[in-house]
Amino acid sequence: MEEKDIYILAIESSCDETAAAVVKNGREVLSNVISSQIDLHTLYGGVVPEIASRKHIEKINQVVESALNEANMTLEQIDAIGVTYGPGLVGALLVGVAEAKAIAFAANKPLVGVHHIEGHVSANFIENLDLKPPFMCLIVSGGHTHLVVVKDYGEFEIIGKTRDDAAGEAFDKVARAIGLGYPGGPKIDKASKEGNPNAIPFPKAKVEGSPYDFSFSGVKSAVLNYLNRAQMTGEEVNYADIAASFQHAVVDVLVEKAILAAKEYGFKQLAIAGGVACNTTLRAKMKEACDKNNITLYYPSPIYCTDNAAMIGCAAYYEYKKGVRHGWDLNAVPNLKLGER
Ligand code: KG4
Ligand code: ZN
Repeated sequence: MEEKDIYILAIESSCDETAAAVVKNGREVLSNVISSQIDLHTLYGGVVPEIASRKHIEKINQVVESALNEANMTLEQIDAIGVTYGPGLVGALLVGVAEAKAIAFAANKPLVGVHHIEGHVSANFIENLDLKPPFMCLIVSGGHTHLVVVKDYGEFEIIGKTRDDAAGEAFDKVARAIGLGYPGGPKIDKASKEGNPNAIPFPKAKVEGSPYDFSFSGVKSAVLNYLNRAQMTGEEVNYADIAASFQHAVVDVLVEKAILAAKEYGFKQLAIAGGVACNTTLRAKMKEACDKNNITLYYPSPIYCTDNAAMIGCAAYYEYKKGVRHGWDLNAVPNLKLGER
């Protein structure tokens, strides 16, 4: 007997994008609507939580409506409502969770809460139909830097993480220091193309005794010290060289550790996920290293790397299939642990 198609309406509002999507059978995106608040937060050099929550409230209804319209579907045709309930900014998460609960209750549909990072990992399933667990995954976002074994859909073993700043956070802080503004990742990516990655030897942090853990506060401080020193001595600095050299230091560590983990754990499939997975140098360097080691590299298109609801719809589908259902008491959990339900 052929299995019935499952349609998920998914909502994401954990940070500064208000997003909704309709996803069919966990892999096919029928609509993916994102209302970004970036321009608003750029004025302040970073995300202002209060403003983020208020903007989510303003936008969420129309974003959900557009997602249904673009998918050419009615709420009645939807099988379940998926929503990010953590981790993230509590006020921002609450808007999505309240919306999802209201819709699920009113339309009498099951509610499936999703971990934001499980969403990022699942973004890889959208365009890579051959990718199935188990595989190794490097998650690099604004809030997380994790090396995980994806044992099954929604089942993770974290083998390494950052001891301090997340990779994206380091990009954002360095970008701010060299005057590129927010969000820093894409701007450093672009500026680096004009710079020399070997101009300044910024440190590539190793964590003693933990081959899969990361630390990015050292390289960030090294950039700040470099800038201060130059300012005191009146030396001219080349911002493109700083951007390229910083990026080089971060990317080298990410590639080295991800490849080491894939090899040590015996995986021939490596995926990267999260906003920093957009980084063109990371993609190129990781691809090169994977080719050399006979590993297949997977990454989502940029639109599915940064925050979106399609990835939440993918993750919600696999949770739904497993029988996960949340009650009307579902709450936002700002520090939700990966793998917790
Ligand atoms: O996954 P994401 O959209 O949100 C979180 O869950 O945190 O990631 C956002 C992060 C930001 O720190 C942003 O600067 C970074 O991803 N990012 C990039 C690039 N595009 C976005 N970092 C490096 N290179 C990029 N091209
Ligand atoms: Zn994210």
